[in-house]
Amino acid sequence: MATKIAVKSPLSLNNMIQLKDMNGMDEIVSLCKRRGFIFPGSDIYGGMAGLYDFGPYGVELLNNLKQNWWKHNIQQRADYVGLDSAMFKNPEVWKASGHVDSFSDPMSECKECHTRIRVDKELEKLGVFADEKMTEAEIGKLFDEHKSKIKCPNCKKQNWTAPKKFNLLVKSNLGDFTEQNTDPAYLPGEACQGIYLNFKNVVDTCRVKIPFGIGQIGKAFRNEISPRNFLFRTREFEQADTQYFVRPHKNKEPYERIKQEQWDWLLSLGIKEENLKWHQHENLVFYAKDAWDIEYNYPGNGFDELMGIHDRSDYDLSQHMKFSGTDLEYRDPMTGEKYIPWILETSMGMGRLFLAVLCDAYEQNEERTVLHLSPELAPVKYAVFPLLKNKPDLVKKAKEVFEMLSSRYNCEFDDNGNIGKRYRRQDEIGTPKCITIDFDTLEDDTVTVRDRDTTEQIRINIADL
Ligand code: GAP
Repeated sequence: MATKIAVKSPLSLNNMIQLKDMNGMDEIVSLCKRRGFIFPGSDIYGGMAGLYDFGPYGVELLNNLKQNWWKHNIQQRADYVGLDSAMFKNPEVWKASGHVDSFSDPMSECKECHTRIRVDKELEKLGVFADEKMTEAEIGKLFDEHKSKIKCPNCKKQNWTAPKKFNLLVKSNLGDFTEQNTDPAYLPGEACQGIYLNFKNVVDTCRVKIPFGIGQIGKAFRNEISPRNFLFRTREFEQADTQYFVRPHKNKEPYERIKQEQWDWLLSLGIKEENLKWHQHENLVFYAKDAWDIEYNYPGNGFDELMGIHDRSDYDLSQHMKFSGTDLEYRDPMTGEKYIPWILETSMGMGRLFLAVLCDAYEQNEERTVLHLSPELAPVKYAVFPLLKNKPDLVKKAKEVFEMLSSRYNCEFDDNGNIGKRYRRQDEIGTPKCITIDFDTLEDDTVTVRDRDTTEQIRINIADL
């Protein structure tokens, strides 16, 4: 049985400030650092551009997002299986994939202060679009026409070098004990290559039949010229990918279905539909026949890519067949027909999803900052408080409740400061329910449960928690 308790000054929704009304991303960056979601990488050494660490609450939220993705995209689908491939691959893989030759961004350097810019992104801000397939000379010509409008973000001068295409792959010397490192083992430029390399293994061992999909969450590394916007463009990030293998030319219907499913899944996380939008690519990357992005309205930045959904046709398996010499054709078990499957890809940066979910859940009013995360995603599900920390009976009882709940949920025990302050701390990290153990609990085994969103409090039996 639950009894409602009258709450002093319940918070009015009228004074809520939305993130888009404020300094946008600055608020999120500040909350993330203050409350242990995200720390700048190598912080004590002054950091390093484009690298971040997930703190105690950040890793919980990240893991919850990954689990939700895995459940929704793999486990709950009869036609998908999962994979976890090694990050390092034979160097030939990145030649076959096209990354060694074509995975580059045009870069220019300020001759005054040596700040580097991504030329295509700077042109984009002026409404000028540089095609991925343009040569250095063609981009140089476009840049010459517009560079008088592009100021150095650091020294504000306009003295630029001619744009050069800069390859984004990150090299390592894994397995190379010479000084030359002529054939480097690259870190993955995109996580999905491991799926293509294992296509034949999965077909041979897992009784899958086309159409079917393989999914994985894996790390990617890119030598981004100008990492920016917090987790949005980093040099190390995680991608959650699915690759759906279909018969040649049977791509249209599943492509539309996959697009819709991904849109619906983002909504199921609690992201507001008004903050999502479709964008079809006009300039296609080297592997794609068609490409759509789901964009999120990032505060201070506007709509930008959250997830890419690509029709990659037979590009990947054909390339790996050619370079490896291994037959990657699929043999239809019913008809005996052999063909190279076409691939439909979904690829999403976990950091960009993390950021979108945080921004969408963020609200601030005169009294508190609150994250309205769905209970499934919230880093902490229940916070348990003894009313007073110097009363051993209350503390003992609160610890019993904590132990009972923490066997199933990630919970937090907090006996520090007054109850109001403890509520505020939990609101900031999005904890859905706070449970207070007081003197009545010792008499009747009931506790106060306070709801994060409404701030309403009810009294319920411990057995009913
Ligand atoms: N396998 C396809 C692929 O990698 P992409 O559009 O380059 O395609 C897919 O990347 C997703 O990975 C993007 O939609 C974005 O969410 C994320 N992503 C790409 N570059 C990123 C970066 N530098 N930092 C963070 N996330 C990134």
